[in-house]
Amino acid sequence: MPAIAKAQPNIALIKYWGKRDSELNLPAVGSISITLSELFTEMSVELDDSFSEDQLAVNGAQNRSLLPRVQRCLDSVLGDQRQFARVASRSNFPIAAGLASSASAFSALVIAAAGAGGQVRDTAVLANLAGRTSGSAARSLYGGFVELENHADEVKVASIRAADEWPLRVVVAVTSSGPKATSSGDAMEISRNTSPFYSRWVEQQPQDLDIARVAINDRDFEKLATIAEHNCLKMHSVMWASRPPVMFWNSATIECMQVVRELRAQGVAVFFTIDAGPQLKAVCLPADESRVSDALAAIAGVSDIMLSGLGEGAALVRNTCIQ
Ligand code: PMV
Repeated sequence: MPAIAKAQPNIALIKYWGKRDSELNLPAVGSISITLSELFTEMSVELDDSFSEDQLAVNGAQNRSLLPRVQRCLDSVLGDQRQFARVASRSNFPIAAGLASSASAFSALVIAAAGAGGQVRDTAVLANLAGRTSGSAARSLYGGFVELENHADEVKVASIRAADEWPLRVVVAVTSSGPKATSSGDAMEISRNTSPFYSRWVEQQPQDLDIARVAINDRDFEKLATIAEHNCLKMHSVMWASRPPVMFWNSATIECMQVVRELRAQGVAVFFTIDAGPQLKAVCLPADESRVSDALAAIAGVSDIMLSGLGEGAALVRNTCIQ
């Protein structure tokens, strides 16, 4: 019987950008994110002595290019003497397009792998193992508002406010569903090695984290909006100043940013954030969701709108079948 886990992507409000140890994939900075509810990845892992090799199917198609990363993650949970595995994942949103699909995939994978191996592991341990493959995946083990702190040679991740205590909504404006040209891991290394702004980015992160933590604690939307947009634009400025420059936005991404800023100037409670891809995520209060989604949907170049609330961390499920 395969073990099946379900995980939701998370969107960073205070971003992780840069590694302090690329071998262990440890982040250079702490981060704060929100875990989504409506987008998800389901992952099944089956271990069997009769299998002669590892196999990976992504959305129903065999995938050899992602297999080595998946194998490393399986080894980290089960050890490299493990049985061969049949792994299948299915996501209800575009993958590798800056929508945090690696976060939902690898957080689900560590849970499903531990389940398939009959292991009972602490969430904190699994978060560290997921984070070794994708730094942001460590956060998807937890629900609501999540903070990741750097501690010696590991990360400490915790939910700092439950999803239902401040039920913000997220409107995702999809401006391109193709895979991105540069992976976030490669782009981070280019930034660290070449951007003149990188060291200031790392230095300033604790202040941004402090402001966001207080804003979340006080449910102060305006304060969170201001610091989240600032932190996002700083991260992209680090990338733009790298050599070669790393640019993930397209013209529709920029138009979405302008529309969000105009809406906020008109009193709508909304702010944007953008990750390593051209999609824009608008975070808003529930009462403003339809106004925000209508405005973003009307932009030429926005091909799809996805709506989500905040949700729970990754968990094992057993009643789903992935083909
Ligand atoms: O976890 P990775 O390696 O895919 O990197 C994620 C980086 C950002 O999404 C841009 C920021 C973040 O904190 O999630």
